[in-house]
Amino acid sequence: MNVPFLDLKAQYRTIRSEIRPAIDAVLDSAAYVLGKPVVEFEKAFAAAHSTSHCIGLSSGTDGNHAVLWALGIGPGDEVVIPANTFIATAWGATLCGAKPVFVDCHPQSYNLDPEKLEQAITSRTKAIVAVHLYGQTADLDPIKQIAARRSLIVVEDCAQSHLAEYKGKKVGGLTTASSFSFYPGKNLGAYGEAGAAMTNDEQLAKRIRMIRDHGAENKYYHEVFGHNYRMEAIQAAVLNVKLKYLAEWTERRRAVAQSYRRLLTGVGDIVLPEEMPYAKHVYHLFVIQTTKRDELQKYLTEQGIGTGLHYPIPLHLQKCFSHFGYRKGDFPVTERLSERCLSLPMFAEMTPAQVETVVTAIKRFFH
Ligand SMILES: Cc1ncc(COP(=O)(O)O)c(C=O)c1O
Repeated sequence: MNVPFLDLKAQYRTIRSEIRPAIDAVLDSAAYVLGKPVVEFEKAFAAAHSTSHCIGLSSGTDGNHAVLWALGIGPGDEVVIPANTFIATAWGATLCGAKPVFVDCHPQSYNLDPEKLEQAITSRTKAIVAVHLYGQTADLDPIKQIAARRSLIVVEDCAQSHLAEYKGKKVGGLTTASSFSFYPGKNLGAYGEAGAAMTNDEQLAKRIRMIRDHGAENKYYHEVFGHNYRMEAIQAAVLNVKLKYLAEWTERRRAVAQSYRRLLTGVGDIVLPEEMPYAKHVYHLFVIQTTKRDELQKYLTEQGIGTGLHYPIPLHLQKCFSHFGYRKGDFPVTERLSERCLSLPMFAEMTPAQVETVVTAIKRFFH
């Protein structure tokens, strides 16, 4: 049996009868950008995360940018981010003209290590982006304590952590502002590009809303610099259907993770992902570590099993940031992870037989 890394078709089959009329309604309305479906989604998504304001955007990358832009981050400023994340986290700072400064990740949580945070803070630091990578929250309390002492802003990158929890509270409103991605493969995915920003600060929400729409609250009255970061109505219509199932899909992901954990404990030299005591992991990705990563990935590919690498090159070693002068060895935990990480198939519709197929193939490889 082939097992894809992600099966978006399997999910579509379960909601097709709701998706088609929802998209049809947008086509019939001929209102394709922002509008009613976006407003409806913003309300529901904010409520699902117990946050006051949600601003529907065109992507998570735009969310990373719009949030820092609205907070006044600009040239000369530094923004601290984890070295272990997707490049889009860094674009938030760079698109503002600021410099991303990297920090190593924690060996168990794989998120920004609070103990290493202060080393990265300088007199130019303005903000810290806490990424909840793979679906598990960063340890926000120590990060926020350091930030408070140094008068820094903390924001969350929630692109991989819809409905994830930190100490019993949903992400999205736990810091000054947050950004989300609804890229199709995300836990909540649109049928194209989409994203959002969230905050409990009304004034900040207003600024992000203006940035999203050419710096204007009222059409053709441009109060601040802005961009076109508007969410499309068809994407919101899709998200409105899917949001109703997100909690159920999240529990199914957690059940798949539990099966993997039970069946893969003690197999080869595999290191399983840890659930930190403060976090409710939503398993956007199920990332294992092994010293035989490349051989295992090749073997699984030959067996028809899809896998992914998140991420093979840490941000500080990316060519686009070579001018910052980081070297191999600067962030050993992130670097080791980049050489050993392997993301196994993970999606809510995964069947026990598919999990079994993946596990059996892995066991066969190690024996
Ligand atoms: C951690 C992280 N931040 C930001 C983004 C950017 O989101 P988008 O692809 O919607 O621009 C992603 C998406 O892959 C991500 O994983």
